[in-house]
Amino acid sequence: MKRILIALLIAVFSVPTFADEGMWIPMLLKRNEADMQQKGMKISADDIYSINQACLKDAIVLFGSGCTGEFVSDQGLLFTNHHCGYSFIARNSTLEHNYLANGFWAKSFEEEIPCVGLTVTRLVRMEDVTEQVLKGVEDKMSEAERENVIAANIKAVTKKATEGTHYSAIIKPFYYGNQYFMYVNEVFTDVRMVGTPPSNIGKFGGDTDNWMWPRHTGDFSVFRVYAGKDNKPADYSADNVPYKPLQHLTISLKGVEENDFTFVFGYPGTTNRYATSQAVDLAANVTNPVRIDLRTIRLNHYNNAMNQDAAQRLKYSSKVASIANGWKKWQGESLGINRLDGVEKKQEFEKRFQQWANNNPMYKDVLPSMEKNYAILKSIELNNTYFNEAVRASDFMGRAATLLTLANTTNDSLIEARKNAFIKHNETYFKDFDKHSIVDRAIFIETFTYMCKAGFGGFVANKDVDIATIEEMLGKIYDKSVLTSEKNIMKLLANYKAKDAKKILKDPAVELYQLAYENLLPASSRKEYSKVTKEINRLYRLYVKGMMEMDANNVSFPDANLTLRVAYGHVKGFAPKDGVYYKPYTTLEGIIEKENPDIYDYVVEPRLKELYNTRDYGQYANAKGELPVAFIATNHTTGGNSGSPVLNANGELIGLNFDRCWEGTMSDLLFDPNYCRNITLDIRYCLFIIDKYAGATNLINELTISK
Ligand code: ARG
Ligand code: ASP
Repeated sequence: MKRILIALLIAVFSVPTFADEGMWIPMLLKRNEADMQQKGMKISADDIYSINQACLKDAIVLFGSGCTGEFVSDQGLLFTNHHCGYSFIARNSTLEHNYLANGFWAKSFEEEIPCVGLTVTRLVRMEDVTEQVLKGVEDKMSEAERENVIAANIKAVTKKATEGTHYSAIIKPFYYGNQYFMYVNEVFTDVRMVGTPPSNIGKFGGDTDNWMWPRHTGDFSVFRVYAGKDNKPADYSADNVPYKPLQHLTISLKGVEENDFTFVFGYPGTTNRYATSQAVDLAANVTNPVRIDLRTIRLNHYNNAMNQDAAQRLKYSSKVASIANGWKKWQGESLGINRLDGVEKKQEFEKRFQQWANNNPMYKDVLPSMEKNYAILKSIELNNTYFNEAVRASDFMGRAATLLTLANTTNDSLIEARKNAFIKHNETYFKDFDKHSIVDRAIFIETFTYMCKAGFGGFVANKDVDIATIEEMLGKIYDKSVLTSEKNIMKLLANYKAKDAKKILKDPAVELYQLAYENLLPASSRKEYSKVTKEINRLYRLYVKGMMEMDANNVSFPDANLTLRVAYGHVKGFAPKDGVYYKPYTTLEGIIEKENPDIYDYVVEPRLKELYNTRDYGQYANAKGELPVAFIATNHTTGGNSGSPVLNANGELIGLNFDRCWEGTMSDLLFDPNYCRNITLDIRYCLFIIDKYAGATNLINELTISK
């Protein structure tokens, strides 16, 4: 009796403490509540997530399919990052109305611009559905049988959850299928662009500063969600009205100091917290280096072109942003993993696991099997990498792939549709082809040549063939293909019918693409790949379960999977290398320091300069009279967390998460509190730009600001 009582007392009174690492499930946040409060939080877990009352969760949305946004007014006004709104800002821009370059501010609802294809998803509620999903699943089942049972269960459960509502539901596996949660969502399809700073604010520092600290990027944009008159989601219509969210965030202008508590509430995409040593080695030392090299080639050519004129800058900027983003992150990731001896640390853990598992028939073979499967995966993964990063690097090969699809199409109406789409693409494609073909041709030739020299392009030339010869061969293919002659391709397509497929298949570019595909990703290895990845997934399910049984502390939060999570930590500087200490916040001073009118990424707007010269910061200055721009903290975040609200101890909005520090980008695999920092745009800089810089007081008036 006494023992039970003591156990109970411990359970009630001991506060479990967690490391900075972790992306927690909002519904289960009660478990972290005491820890969060001890670390400084003044609100309760129920204030963050509850199905019984309006809570912060109602203000957070999935923006598009890979970012986070948050409601900041009772009229559906939404903040997210500039880089999250980027493709929509770009799509709405022309050289005459270049919102990317000059910014855009709607002064009334009428001026807001619809964004075709943009959705905003709000979580209505979540539920642990593990039992229902695993009903009928037995240990002795094959993976295929298991999957079938699970798929059928998922279908039934989601159907029941949404019947008679306008909601949609999605069920996602956690801990590799040891647990399942259902998310019931409301999806809005009428979303309009309201405001964006010019790129030299919203993307200040560009790809040079991307993933870096100290940072001075005003990375925000403003949208509005519209709904039908009943406040329910409705497709775009002029009659739609601003959506009234159940909750919108209160903004605090008080700012934060080093060591203050903060939390991030949003949609982290993918992490691999429980990856084995082989997985970590594969990423850090095998695929990352190849991807980095191949992207360097592309970036050199695009950057060169972008520096020539504004038209080419507009043409390539979206593409370059995305190529450069991964390119730089992988560099930091590989460095970080090796700095931490990540592979060795994983191996040490695996040794301990194996010792434990040796007495446990269920888990004994897990790690040895992992090793075998990863060995097979490694070679296929490298081929995949070459296919995606070399073969598919140029528009030339991308178009060859599309043409090949057309040649393989037999249904007449599909042929018509695909042909017409291609003809339409030609119109824009050939507009400034003289310039573009120089860039694209060079990318095609260099990436293929790199692949040949690395021994992966044997279908073009062997490793030992000299570079000039390979380049010449490739150059001929480029110049002879119909794809690079508007006249010839139009001739081929004008009266194209199924019987003309031969003509397409004879084209040297299409031939090359097909050859590359068959050599790098033959049917046999595609089959093997799907088998191996399924098996690896099954092994992880066991591995993670085993880890838990071995010691519950081995397993903390479930990997990110683009579901709503809470990460919390403190504002904190760090020492990236010997002799250097990074302070936790930046100010407008730093923008002026970085200013360089000759470098596109560091041009400072005259209007911003003016405000700086007069120190006209109004209510947005900190106690020292500085204008804060960004700050860093120990919150564990990843891709998808961009645009996430960063909140203070009272749950008030103090900034927008937009990046991580380069030295800590290995956090998807290994979190190190000494190096891993998320980067947040200080909300005071965001409001300063809207208010003082743009004069969009109509937006400021909509916000709820606590001073
Ligand atoms: N690194 C940030 C993230 O992963 C921002 C990317 C967009 N910015 C850029 N300069 N490419 O999304
Ligand atoms: N910049 C990332 C995003 O777009 C955030 C990150 O990877 O830290 O979600």
